[in-house]
Amino acid sequence: MNVPKHVAIIMDGNGRWATKKGLKRSEGHLEGSKTLEKLAIHALGMGVEVLSVYAFSTDNFKRSKDEVDYLMNLFVKMFKTKFDKFNKKGIKVMFSGRKINLREDVIKSMEEIEEKTKENTSGILNICLNYGGQEEIIDGAIKLAKDINNGIDINNFTREDFYKYLYNELPPIDLLIRTGGEQRVSNFMLYQMSYSEFYFTNTLFPDFDKSELNKSLFMYENRDRRFGGINDIENG
Ligand code: FPP
Repeated sequence: MNVPKHVAIIMDGNGRWATKKGLKRSEGHLEGSKTLEKLAIHALGMGVEVLSVYAFSTDNFKRSKDEVDYLMNLFVKMFKTKFDKFNKKGIKVMFSGRKINLREDVIKSMEEIEEKTKENTSGILNICLNYGGQEEIIDGAIKLAKDINNGIDINNFTREDFYKYLYNELPPIDLLIRTGGEQRVSNFMLYQMSYSEFYFTNTLFPDFDKSELNKSLFMYENRDRRFGGINDIENG
């Protein structure tokens, strides 16, 4: 099977999942966190090398204080306890995003799980938290500008070279999944998705289980990725 190296998921639909069941939105996020736990172990166990997930965008701070607080508390709880399971499976957890505006206890729990799993080699879970794709490019450009001021040579600087200025030096995204029915990228990993295959599904994130993920991997296997070229048959 041709397994994508880097899969990214926009985990949308937690709120609607809860509302449809007559529950509070927060219960949708809790259920989403359980789905993420299972999916990460499944995907990285199948040979996906990096799984990036959109946990909280820079714009999500516009939500009600209650919802933001709930999500931040959920993150702390997950990173402190539930993610031990990831450690046991050899998964390395890393974060992409800005630390500014995040609570001290959230930052501390992020640093702890990063430190605890940093030597692991059985796949990477990259959690995008307080993350924006344009912000990542700006932050990278600022780092590059500093290096230029310090005299690095930028003749022959390539698009591959810019990856080391992003939050984490990860491979380009092969497969981008968005659950919850919307067909937009919402300021997610813009630099890394330039040649991604997109998979949009109406399934709400809490219901996006292993078999749903397998469907997206099957679709991926059957896509003809040309990266701007032409395929082998047309090439003769
Ligand atoms: C979008 O659904 C989802 C979020 C803003 C939060 C994603 C968070 C989780 C899946 C929780 C667990 C994450 C970690 C890293 C432990 P929405 O609220 O926009 O849903 P809606 O479109 O139905 O309102």
